Amino acid sequence: MDKSKSGWCRELTVWIGTANKQYASYAMEELRRQFEGLSLSQLSPGETFLMQLPQGRDEVMKSIRDRKPIFLRHLQPVDSSRAMSLDADDLDWLSDWLRLSRSHLAGKRVGVHIRKAEGSPFPYSAADARAVLDAVLAEAGAEPAHKQPDSLVAVYASRDTLYAGIGTPEEMLSDWPGGAVRFQREDGQISRAKFKLLEAEREFGLDYSRFSRALDIGAAPGGWTSLLLERGLKVTAVDPAELHPSLQAYRTLTVLRKNASEVKFEPGSFDLLVCDMSWSPMQMCRLVLDLAPALQSGGSAIVTIKLMHRKPLQTIREVMQRFGESFDIVGARQLFHNREEMTLCMKKR
Ligand SMILES: C[S@@+](CC[C@H](N)C(=O)[O-])C[C@H]1O[C@@H](n2cnc3c(N)ncnc32)[C@H](O)[C@@H]1O
Repeated sequence: MDKSKSGWCRELTVWIGTANKQYASYAMEELRRQFEGLSLSQLSPGETFLMQLPQGRDEVMKSIRDRKPIFLRHLQPVDSSRAMSLDADDLDWLSDWLRLSRSHLAGKRVGVHIRKAEGSPFPYSAADARAVLDAVLAEAGAEPAHKQPDSLVAVYASRDTLYAGIGTPEEMLSDWPGGAVRFQREDGQISRAKFKLLEAEREFGLDYSRFSRALDIGAAPGGWTSLLLERGLKVTAVDPAELHPSLQAYRTLTVLRKNASEVKFEPGSFDLLVCDMSWSPMQMCRLVLDLAPALQSGGSAIVTIKLMHRKPLQTIREVMQRFGESFDIVGARQLFHNREEMTLCMKKR
């Protein structure tokens, strides 16, 4: 408990935040703007940090739900922590802590996520620690679950401390440890870029198979186009570069080997527009806005924004302002599969 100026005791909550490598400072900046009285310290430089907030858990969760920070990939509540002893006592402590929390977990499907900071001396592998905690869960009447858990037990081992907390996947912003979403690489997969579009579908709650006609701007070599074709959409792919020859098999694909500034479509020709051009954000924005009339009202757009400047938050703000001319912003997130970029999901007005 913390005594505020007014003399009332306020609840203090502790959290571990994770961003993509090198982007933690932007996540922390967003959180500083969102939460008054926040205190922050680094756990794994550039990636993971500890934060203490003079707000209760529900209040923090509501604020994050209402305004998800772009660069915060994962948020883990810390219910308990202790200095590591680097022997079996660490596992005993985790097991005892979990036993004490079992009333929250009985009857639920529960996943266990163990993360170790780079250089953490925690002597157990994630698999071994998980096996021990899975046994405690089973004994407590919970069902250890790797897929679609109701709740997650999250443990983070830093260089000197063990942090443990329980929350739902929604509260932690992901059902993957640290928000590191992994997709299976397929035989013959055209590009890793496909993972970005798959992750965007999960992140923004879309289902591409519910769309029928997609425009893919900057489509080559064709990872995004291939996913949309597989989902049964008719796709028009625009790129001066060549698409992968395997895509020629699709009769539902139209390829325009042109610069996006040279193409024109009838108004409302598409219900989905996707754009993954590695280009200056403002030029990409102008090209997409020029083509926006081709997207029907209420249609969705998924766009990656290259973060080439030193001020990504400012770049994103300017781009969202420009897109605001024709689109409502549904979500803005740096996805795990984004590198020097982030992803916008929008709806055409
Ligand atoms: C990162 S790649 C896209 C990868 C693609 N999403 C995939 O899944 O395989 C960027 C592409 O944008 C294309 N591009 C860049 N500027 C363009 C423009 N003005 N018009 C059309 N395509 C453009 C490039 O030729 C390049 O093929």
